[in-house]
Amino acid sequence: MASATIFDDPNMGEKVKAKLKHCGKEVTIYPLAKIIKPEVIEIGDHSIINDFTFTYGGNGIKIGSYVHINCFVSIIGGGELILGDYCSIATGCRVITGTDTYYGGKRLSSALPLEQRNVILGKVVLEKDVNIGVNVVIHPDVTIGEGAIIGSNSLVLKDVEPWSINVGSPCHKIADRPKVVVEDI
Ligand SMILES: CC(C)(COP(=O)(O)OP(=O)(O)OC[C@H]1O[C@@H](n2cnc3c(N)ncnc32)[C@H](O)[C@@H]1OP(=O)(O)O)[C@@H](O)C(=O)NCCC(=O)NCCS
Repeated sequence: MASATIFDDPNMGEKVKAKLKHCGKEVTIYPLAKIIKPEVIEIGDHSIINDFTFTYGGNGIKIGSYVHINCFVSIIGGGELILGDYCSIATGCRVITGTDTYYGGKRLSSALPLEQRNVILGKVVLEKDVNIGVNVVIHPDVTIGEGAIIGSNSLVLKDVEPWSINVGSPCHKIADRPKVVVEDI
């Protein structure tokens, strides 16, 4: 009898679509994209989740239309995530929606029982047309305003102004981004 492979994993690839809270038209989930807790995840039309991504649904994820989540992106932490229409998250980004903390003298390993830990479950929002460069890290409780760009390898700890270009660790604004002039589709 043939042994099971990762392609049989019910939490990977197109098979996950049937378990999502909502799956729009023409959504693509590549075979090596792993999605945990799909029942709290909504995906809008024409969005794409590439191979080698890890998405944990946590307290809920709402992905808009024409969103691209590229290879090696991780969405972790157990909080909430909103991705507006036309957002793009480049290879290697880590979106942290929640985290263990040292607050109150608690321990930080997720392997421990909850009474040993002090977990913060936050919310990350990327408004419409946000563009995240490769290897960016986004911490919990951050809103990245409409149309903002985060340069490669940046660290986002605080809210980001709409239609701004930001780089660095932690990131700071270096310029305004001109508004999109093409029509919404
Ligand atoms: C942030 C970004 C959009 C800026 O592009 P740009 O407007 O063309 O800016 P420039 O290349 O003219 O750089 C402007 C300044 O920002 C600095 N800078 C640019 N990108 C940076 C980054 N990622 N981190 C730190 N500094 C950066 C430049 O060194 C330059 O500084 P200087 O004025 O002191 O010389 C671009 O550099 C970037 O990081 N894009 C993301 C690329 C990516 O990850 N794509 C995904 C794969 S498709």
